[in-house]
Amino acid sequence: MPPVITDIEDLHRLYRRRVPRMFYDYCQSGSWTEQTYRENETDFDLIRLRQRVAVDMEGRSVRSKMIGREVAMPVALAPVGLTGMQHADGEILAAKAAEAMGVPFTLSTMSICSIEDVARNTTAPFWFQLYVMRDEDFIDRLIERAQAAGCDALVITLDLQIMGQRHKDLKNGLSAPPKLTPTSIANMMTKVQWGLGMAQTKRRFFGNIIGHAKGVEDASSLSSWTAEQFDPRLDWDKIRRLKEKWGGKVILKGILDAEDARMALAVGADAIVVSNHGGRQLDGALSSIRMLSEIVDAVGDQIEVHMDGGIRSGQDVLKAIAMGAKGTYIGRAFIYGLGAMGQAGVTRALEVIRRELDVTMALCGEKDIHNVGRHNLLVPRGFSGEWDPRGRDG
Ligand SMILES: Cc1cc2nc3c(=O)[nH]c(=O)nc-3n(C[C@H](O)[C@H](O)[C@H](O)COP(=O)(O)O)c2cc1C
Repeated sequence: MPPVITDIEDLHRLYRRRVPRMFYDYCQSGSWTEQTYRENETDFDLIRLRQRVAVDMEGRSVRSKMIGREVAMPVALAPVGLTGMQHADGEILAAKAAEAMGVPFTLSTMSICSIEDVARNTTAPFWFQLYVMRDEDFIDRLIERAQAAGCDALVITLDLQIMGQRHKDLKNGLSAPPKLTPTSIANMMTKVQWGLGMAQTKRRFFGNIIGHAKGVEDASSLSSWTAEQFDPRLDWDKIRRLKEKWGGKVILKGILDAEDARMALAVGADAIVVSNHGGRQLDGALSSIRMLSEIVDAVGDQIEVHMDGGIRSGQDVLKAIAMGAKGTYIGRAFIYGLGAMGQAGVTRALEVIRRELDVTMALCGEKDIHNVGRHNLLVPRGFSGEWDPRGRDG
């Protein structure tokens, strides 16, 4: 009997059992004390929903649009590096599940399956997430490769010019393919399905990088290359140039401040993602859901505001949409599904979230996701605003 999956936490439990510790920890960590990572989730719980009754609930719809694209619900799959280490061919499987559900898939620069590989195995266009690297030729070619693959948006991640530290990754010696130590071998021997999948695929390296970046021909030269490559000089001028080079829709990811949201507007982005990288970068930053209203109030009438961080249910999606987001992304929630059950697990994660979103919307007395708003929420006083931005306490 296949396991009965009722919520994302069920997928999480299976994922934990089935995937090697090193990759579980990589997904399940935030930087330093993990305060921001934890609060991304727990701050959603502080917001409550307003129950309404005796409202005709027939003919409901959670369909919407993100940057002009029709979506079955305002939820996209976030870019997640090393997805193909969580399950063999992970990016291809997740992209297929997203396509079948009618939601966008975002491919990370740091993916295992390459841009071309994902394009060959899917028909719906996907979004490509760009990390800006020092090697400008490599970046230009990445952009051209994404154009050639028919990607219909470029998601530029702005909050990783320098890497936040996740303690467990250092202790585990995280790498792709995994480093073989007595501990990692002993652990991998217990993950039979994972190991069989990995033995049957050729996709075990960073597919967008190996053979494409100068000086990176194999996995051993890759780790030193990536450590040096994230471009600390990235600034708004460079973002403007990248946007011109791309020529299509641009989504700026990693905005957590109203001033930066105004800058994103000034460079002509099509959307921004209010995000703190799932709590993996600046530990001590506010959760995405807490920062969302201020940013929506600052720029929401002029640019599409999306958000990610901490979404583990359809209720969370509804809360983000009610706070003013036009779209959301899930990172860990779909990785749990992928690691637990491959493509079927990602499909299940999306189904669970869509069902929860639909039922929650109905019980809040709404029939159309476009009508969901702050009137559906009970938000504690001071939830977004009791902070002094100048750092003074009074
Ligand atoms: C394991 C992992 C790897 C990630 N890799 C990337 C990446 O390569 N590029 C990127 O822009 N964001 C990356 N992110 C951040 C996600 O895109 C997203 O912002 C975050 O996962 C949202 O939070 P959630 O996991 O709580 O849904 C990663 C997140 C996780 C958990």
